[in-house]
Amino acid sequence: MAYPRIASLKTYADFVARLDELGITLPCDADVMSGNDSVLSQSNVVDGMNIGNRFCILPMEGWDGTREGKPTDLTRRRWHNFGISGAKLIWGGEAVAVRQDGRANPNQVMINDQNLNAIESLRTELFDKHAERFGKTDDLVVGLQLTHSGRFARPNDKSKAEPRPAQRNEALDKKLGIKDDSAMLTDDELSTLIDDFVAAAVLADKAGFTFVDIKHCHGYLGHELLSGVDRPGKFGGSFENRTRFLRDIVAGIRATAPNMKFAVRVSIFDFFPFKPGDDKVGVPDPLSDPRLEFGGDGSGMGIDLTEPSKFMALLKELGIALVCTTAGSPYYNPHIQRPAYFPPSDGYQPPEDPLVGVARQIHATAELKRQHPDLFFVGSGYTYLQDWLPGVAQAVASQGMVDSVGLGRMVLSYPDMPADILSGDIMSRKKICRTFSDCTTAPRNGIISGCYPLDPFYKAMPERAALNEIKKASV
Ligand SMILES: Cc1cc2nc3c(=O)[nH]c(=O)nc-3n(C[C@H](O)[C@H](O)[C@H](O)COP(=O)(O)O)c2cc1C
Ligand code: SF4
Repeated sequence: MAYPRIASLKTYADFVARLDELGITLPCDADVMSGNDSVLSQSNVVDGMNIGNRFCILPMEGWDGTREGKPTDLTRRRWHNFGISGAKLIWGGEAVAVRQDGRANPNQVMINDQNLNAIESLRTELFDKHAERFGKTDDLVVGLQLTHSGRFARPNDKSKAEPRPAQRNEALDKKLGIKDDSAMLTDDELSTLIDDFVAAAVLADKAGFTFVDIKHCHGYLGHELLSGVDRPGKFGGSFENRTRFLRDIVAGIRATAPNMKFAVRVSIFDFFPFKPGDDKVGVPDPLSDPRLEFGGDGSGMGIDLTEPSKFMALLKELGIALVCTTAGSPYYNPHIQRPAYFPPSDGYQPPEDPLVGVARQIHATAELKRQHPDLFFVGSGYTYLQDWLPGVAQAVASQGMVDSVGLGRMVLSYPDMPADILSGDIMSRKKICRTFSDCTTAPRNGIISGCYPLDPFYKAMPERAALNEIKKASV
């Protein structure tokens, strides 16, 4: 591997020198403050929601619901950990399907009348755990991420893709066995699906969630519609048509659940789908079409924020103030979405130092924040910073590059890292996520997700041995 591991950058000077070497300008504070002095402990009122600090837990599913879509003890454990994390914004917990054909796997949690009480208890237990540890919850905001997985749906069998794409895409169609237009969601089907999102939001309201995230990221349906330049009809082609899905969902929810608040998680740029090259290092798939990348510059490898910025303006028009930025897709270009040193078993060796991927997301988010200062931006992709995450988090928050620092993988291995940072406790280095990608490799191979290398609970599970075998075979 050509890139130095983060753990080998022992001092602040080492880290800054590495950034210089890569030509990356990424702010990082040498001293991280704690308590009320810390910018990360500042609260914000956003659209009437009182968010007590600048850490957010990003949505992360565990492939561990029941076949009916109810949470299990494993799901509950993850939500408990979100509650004790110390973050005051919980972005949706995890992707929750609005109906059966939109589930990304047969164990994805699904919201409907039968599952309502169980999903409500996820929220109440998270609040209880937070209250036990931190004494108050009046500044804790918890939403639910609503999704339809579109072309990445696998609702009935983990090993059987049942894609419902929004448009054709040669590189991605090939991987999913899509040969014609028969699985494409029609306009009428999308209209029905809009009603399903509205019904799901009404249930989320009943379950006490403060906001719903209308998911537009990672190649799932909402995101694919944004790039649907080839799709005919009222949901494709023009920017207006490509955002109709979101606009109609929002209008429907406003009419039926007037107290519900909104948020949108969106991939603000996308690159070509990648695949392993001869030496296993990722290369762009030659079948890729650069016109199909929302926020792409037409080269398939660069960013143009013109449309994403227009999307932010639309959110404002719709009265949505909460935005979570992410990038690309874990299925086809994970190095831009969740920078990692070790790829998942179905991935490729990183084609760039993962720090480049971290900086790319941070700078794209900062640019949108500069253009839309009145939106509240949550950023993603910080986990790869590892030991340097707190210093970068403080620097980007204090320089106004982002409003809240979103944490994904890091809270699987180190659930209460935000609490430790905010209280000034020494960070526990042995809990720092080193981006081994087991939490992605496991579900790609039909195993529940979790931090097998570092979380003692998952370390002790029988699934770990099977996962290790799979990893050995994929080397
Ligand atoms: C196991 C796992 C499950 C995930 N599930 C979701 C999800 O349900 N919804 C979503 O929007 N993102 C999901 N993500 C992406 C994360 O929210 C986040 O964007 C990504 O991990 C990058 O942030 P990080 O560098 O802090 O890990 C998932 C990531 C992982 C590792
Ligand atoms: S399995 Fe654990 S250490 Fe590996 S990437 Fe996931 S959270 Fe990080």
